[in-house]
Amino acid sequence: MQERKLNRVLAGETVFPPPIWLMRQAGRYLPEYRETRAKAGGFLDLCYNPDLATEVTLQPIRRFGFDAAILFSDILVIPDALRRNVRFVQGEGPQMDPIAPHEIGGLDPTNADTHLAPVIATVARLRAELPAETALIGFCGAPWTVATYMIAGHGTPDQAPARRFAYAHPEAMDELLALLAEMSVEYLIRQLQAGADCVQIFDSWAGVLDELSFHRFSIAPTRRIVERVRAAVPGVRIIGFPKGAGPLLPAYRTGTGVDAVGLDWSVPFSFAAELQTTGPVQGNLDPLRLIAGGHALDEGIDAILEHLGAGPLVFNLGHGITPDAPIAHVERLVERVRQG
Ligand code: CP3
Repeated sequence: MQERKLNRVLAGETVFPPPIWLMRQAGRYLPEYRETRAKAGGFLDLCYNPDLATEVTLQPIRRFGFDAAILFSDILVIPDALRRNVRFVQGEGPQMDPIAPHEIGGLDPTNADTHLAPVIATVARLRAELPAETALIGFCGAPWTVATYMIAGHGTPDQAPARRFAYAHPEAMDELLALLAEMSVEYLIRQLQAGADCVQIFDSWAGVLDELSFHRFSIAPTRRIVERVRAAVPGVRIIGFPKGAGPLLPAYRTGTGVDAVGLDWSVPFSFAAELQTTGPVQGNLDPLRLIAGGHALDEGIDAILEHLGAGPLVFNLGHGITPDAPIAHVERLVERVRQG
């Protein structure tokens, strides 16, 4: 079989029309997801149930025929494996026990392999059940982004608790990020060995860091993951998504060594096109254009294809799809991208 379209682009090839998938493509905007989710009980129960996690991963592939499926799980299964009492409270987002600097030395990753085994089982099931042409994406959260939730104990608008922690206790922060990087390496290697075609590292909160902190807390731990995963799985393709990194994107690409860089919707086309001369990019439609539909959607799609379609591009949103996205608009998006 020819290499899957997504992997061809991640290897630097220009494929037009570009392959398309959407961050959070399995989710609450789909009635079939809501139904399976209700059967599972809690959100984490869904993540650790290979039958149901496989089912929700496949739902958007059946409906829209995306070029890639993304493993259904969450970045917060890592703190869950560290027994931080992670819970998803309906309507309130994720919560866990906030960690203090003196507790970091006591974090114990020894049980993580066993804890995460159901997620790896899901990957194997998915590769067996997906259409041959559909790529399978594994993922983890970047250490910085995972740490922001571990420190605050919940989501915040600007991750001030983690930034305060980093300035007041930089060594403790380095230690926490090193542990998370180590665990992520093992986790990604196992996903790749179970059948993932590539992996994405979500650094959703990279954009709150100043330049010094961005190098130390986002780039450095991500580079460690990239180097170690590459050493274990030669030729692996890795997408990095440092949301909000803006002018630091070129430094992120060079510093981490990722193959492709995910762009949020605030990245200007000229900047994105320049970055694309150094390697593949992924993005970057504003998820709210998908909500609006009509002209707002069409002009957003067309502009991305026009400015970035002549180089290696993976079409995606600039962040996750929201629960209020109309299904008809997602259908329109896929159709229009495929028309080129
Ligand atoms: O379809 C996919 O993209 C794969 C599955 C996936 C989920 N979360 C499922 C999910 C992926 C790749 C993630 C990544 C993730 N999780 C990130 C990074 C990407 C981003 O969006 O910034 C982050 C920061 C998280 C942490 C997280 N998980 C938050 C903040 C929330 C609550 C927000 C919300 O939308 O409710 C979650 C819950 C979550 N993860 C849901 C899904 C489908 C919704 C939970 C539900 O069904 O009740």
